[in-house]
Amino acid sequence: MKFFIDTADLTEIKEAASWGALAGVTTNPTLYSRIGGTLANFPAHIEKICALSTGPVSAEVVGELRSDIIAEGRELAKIAPNVVVKVPTTIEGLAATRALADEGIPVNMTLCFTVPQAILAARSGARYISPFVGRFDDISEDGIEQLSLIVNAINNYDWTNVGVPGEQVEVIAASIRSVQHVTQAALVGADIATVPFSVLRKCVEHPLTTNGLSAFAADWEKVTKA
Ligand code: E4P
Repeated sequence: MKFFIDTADLTEIKEAASWGALAGVTTNPTLYSRIGGTLANFPAHIEKICALSTGPVSAEVVGELRSDIIAEGRELAKIAPNVVVKVPTTIEGLAATRALADEGIPVNMTLCFTVPQAILAARSGARYISPFVGRFDDISEDGIEQLSLIVNAINNYDWTNVGVPGEQVEVIAASIRSVQHVTQAALVGADIATVPFSVLRKCVEHPLTTNGLSAFAADWEKVTKA
């Protein structure tokens, strides 16, 4: 499973990228608003994220009609070669995804919750599909179970050349809220997990690692004094 970071915060992206295990970035309008982003600064900000990330950077459209989504998607794709256009899983979104994929523009279909939505997203040419785990949990459903169903359904088929030629669709476990979500996403075979910075940190840090390190340091101190 690859790790993406789910943020629009440049400091977080820079720090996570420095760990050497980051494969991409996902953003959305909420994450951009959270860092105090403005409309005028949006393309420049996405460009900065693209420069920090060696992998794909998902930038989300806000239009809801296919014509608006296509127009916005084309503009976003011009920002950098690693931009992926994030499009909602709606009828208009499917139509726009097909048009963008036919132009060679990679699309991440977001706000995906069910197997039929995921299959339709892949069939419309999406490069990535983002099932939301946490938001399913929020309504007392089992988000990981839904993710698992989507991974299994997608893996039943060969998607070569359905979207951007030569590329397979990948499932991104999104709306990840905990280390446990990350563990479960890997166990059910998600291709990618997009993880907020705070959770990413917790994925690395463990009290037994910290305590073990302190014990080794203390014992080494004895060795140096012996
Ligand atoms: C990423 O692609 C999604 O937009 C994001 O993970 C949503 O997370 P949330 O449900 O915690 O807002």
